[in-house]
Amino acid sequence: MLNSPFAYQDGSLFCEGVSLNDIGREFGTPCYVYSHACIVENYRRFDAAFTSHQHLIAYAVKANSNGAILRILAREGSGADVVSVGELERARAAGIPPDKIVFAGVGKRSDEIERALREEILLLNVESMAEMEQVSRIAARLSLHARIAIRVNPEVIIHTHPYIATGSTGDKFGLPVARAIDAYRRARDDRSIEAIGAHMHIGSQITDLSSYSKAVEIMNELARTISEEGTQLSYLDLGGGLGISYAGDPVSTPDDLAATVLPLLEWFNGRIILEPGRSIVGDAGVLLTTALYSKPSSPRSFLIVDAGMNDFIRPALYGAQHRVLPVRERGSSVNIVDVAGPVCESADILAHHCALPKIEPGEFLAIMDVGAYGFSMSSRYNSRPRPAEVLVRGDEAFLIRERETADDLTLRERVPRFLS
Ligand SMILES: Cc1ncc(COP(=O)(O)O)c(C=O)c1O
Repeated sequence: MLNSPFAYQDGSLFCEGVSLNDIGREFGTPCYVYSHACIVENYRRFDAAFTSHQHLIAYAVKANSNGAILRILAREGSGADVVSVGELERARAAGIPPDKIVFAGVGKRSDEIERALREEILLLNVESMAEMEQVSRIAARLSLHARIAIRVNPEVIIHTHPYIATGSTGDKFGLPVARAIDAYRRARDDRSIEAIGAHMHIGSQITDLSSYSKAVEIMNELARTISEEGTQLSYLDLGGGLGISYAGDPVSTPDDLAATVLPLLEWFNGRIILEPGRSIVGDAGVLLTTALYSKPSSPRSFLIVDAGMNDFIRPALYGAQHRVLPVRERGSSVNIVDVAGPVCESADILAHHCALPKIEPGEFLAIMDVGAYGFSMSSRYNSRPRPAEVLVRGDEAFLIRERETADDLTLRERVPRFLS
């Protein structure tokens, strides 16, 4: 969003028109807080950037799959990029029509493929030859035509964390170009399959757009080759991956992405699909947490808070750096601390070397830019119930997911007879 919805007013950090202090007091912590206006603006900016070409924005549900957020996007006209039946169900329940849903993922089970085919989604993004054969078998059994895109690994160099690079040599996703061309050949002889799309998703948190132009040029070359052999593409799915600014400095925008890829696609008279996740919801969320203890020591000092790596795993998993702001506005920062959670792992550091004013126990802090891959990657590790989620719209705050309780932890466990 151009102007962050999170700003200090009257000495307190606000989300839109609601003080995070009030949210912390009403809903408790840890708690994810999202801005409605930010999600809507991010979506509209993305959509507007691509208006000169017929396109579909298929929001990547994995980034944040809360039903209220999916509903906001459904109302804006968004489609969905899903990677499991769970995500498909969520997208449908939120009102996203099947003809705006694409389904990727290297390990779709047969029941998932069957569900997607029966639902008549727009495209199954097929990631291997074996999967294509499985799709064909299932479609034949159901007497249906499977509309597929082949996911291509363009094997480009991507400057991002290796865990979220997905279009480089050796990655498990998609098929390298030569194998993909072979897959289109096989699909042409298969009556149960219509290979009408090509898909790529080269990675996430990409700020250097040159990887996109290289990848699109490779896709263009592939499209030319298969077109000469008789396959005309109706859909070119460029995936997601546009990065956001975690440090507050400027990064590439959806306009920059469109200016990079659209001139390369003037020849294409089909529909372009984009699957943004992080760039739609990333800067729309904060994780509100309460300071518990200060632990000054050498060589590191810690501020222990009540949110942990189970609530928010990005710092532990990817070494991600997120800004941490005190909810009560203060003068200059005086301490360098590691903000640490209660989980019994040394990796449970939410922010390293954080410059903060003196924080008193009981004070609220906001971990910034956690709207994407925050709650959706949370777990119950250490038997910690998952946090609440709150959506702010104007000067109203809505609980969109209750905090879990101790009962939720054992809900599906069963005691075998010999132990009861
Ligand atoms: C197939 C696919 N599409 C889209 C996305 C969304 O990426 P991002 O959130 O970086 O936009 C992902 C994320 O990994 C993905 O795997």
